[in-house]
Amino acid sequence: MRTDICDRLGIEFPIFAFTHCRDVVAAVSNAGGFGVLGAIGFSPEELEIELNWLDEHCPDAPYGVDIVIPGKYEGMGELDPVKLEAQLTSMVPDDHRRFARRILEEHGIPETPKDQQRSGMMGWTEATGKPLLAAALRHDKVRLIANALGTPPSDVIAEVQASGRLIGALAGSVKHALHHKEAGLDFIVCQGTEGGGHTGEIGSLVLWPEVIDAVHPLPVLAAGGVGTGRQIVAALAMGAQGVWTGTLWLTVEEAETAPGQLKSLLEAKSSDTIRSKSYTGKPCRMLKNDWTEAWGRDDTPDPLPMPLQMMVAIDAVGSGHRYPAQSKDVAFNPCGQIIGRATRVRKARDVIYELVEEYVEVVDRLAESAKVTT
Ligand SMILES: Cc1cc2nc3c(=O)[nH]c(=O)nc-3n(C[C@H](O)[C@H](O)[C@H](O)COP(=O)(O)O)c2cc1C
Repeated sequence: MRTDICDRLGIEFPIFAFTHCRDVVAAVSNAGGFGVLGAIGFSPEELEIELNWLDEHCPDAPYGVDIVIPGKYEGMGELDPVKLEAQLTSMVPDDHRRFARRILEEHGIPETPKDQQRSGMMGWTEATGKPLLAAALRHDKVRLIANALGTPPSDVIAEVQASGRLIGALAGSVKHALHHKEAGLDFIVCQGTEGGGHTGEIGSLVLWPEVIDAVHPLPVLAAGGVGTGRQIVAALAMGAQGVWTGTLWLTVEEAETAPGQLKSLLEAKSSDTIRSKSYTGKPCRMLKNDWTEAWGRDDTPDPLPMPLQMMVAIDAVGSGHRYPAQSKDVAFNPCGQIIGRATRVRKARDVIYELVEEYVEVVDRLAESAKVTT
């Protein structure tokens, strides 16, 4: 299972785990995989705390940080970074706010008290992503930076590479992957449509080899739908240097998934997800619910572009924690189709070991059958 990227990062298994939970990052990295902490949702100060904790809990293992600097977003390059939040807030039409409120009211979710309201801006702009990157680069154990939703700016690429770390980005099409390659990135995470979170339209089985061939010899990590050792064999057989997983870690013991959300995820089938713009403004795979259905209808407002839609959806997103009983049908549950195989809670370390065990069994079986037929 060892590939070049394992040697470059000093890890045993080329199994990358994207997660928002530091405990999952630590468990995966300490088990020989590579944990990647999603920085979105943390302020730079909060991220610093998480990374200090990780440095302490990953004594002998490296880990990565994922930031989100979209290639395209509303107001990009035009807004004043200092007044960004206020300017973006003023761009949200009242109609959208009213429609969102109506859906929440129908589900018994009251308005958030003024002093607890959040703008929902998230770290989805260059101005908010860069301070997160600066925090990550202060930590030696952070050996890899990944960027979602576009090619990172050239100064970001230069800064990360000059620090001796690898920088890569997610791609959901050959076009995006070639753009990343031209910009000089060190690796590409190639995500098929079945993956959780922001995702393109082409399935992994078609997209992985297409991108691997197009960007050769750049290392590609195969993402979207990986949850078994068999799928890792398939990814490596196609020429990927590893797998990049996300959904798999939502239901592990170490994840800070709220009990109601965990129940929905464990009960979900592979057919229960949808690609929807209704929370983030860009196509994102998640569990279907009343909120995704309401924004998908022809007679309702179209979701706003990123980052404005999250400013409309923030109360729905937050409702999962504040109103676990009522929020089932409006809460944001990003996950991929492989959620259908998550039927029980396991320890992250056991997930890694089970993946590796199945990988070895399958490779042995294939080697055995090759002997028989030759
Ligand atoms: C809950 C969730 C949130 C995600 N958020 C991000 C993110 O902030 N940045 C990012 O690069 N990828 C994000 N992703 C995508 C993952 O990095 C990964 O590419 C994807 O989960 C792989 O497909 P899988 O879900 O089938 O394993 C997210 C995925 C999930 C499930």
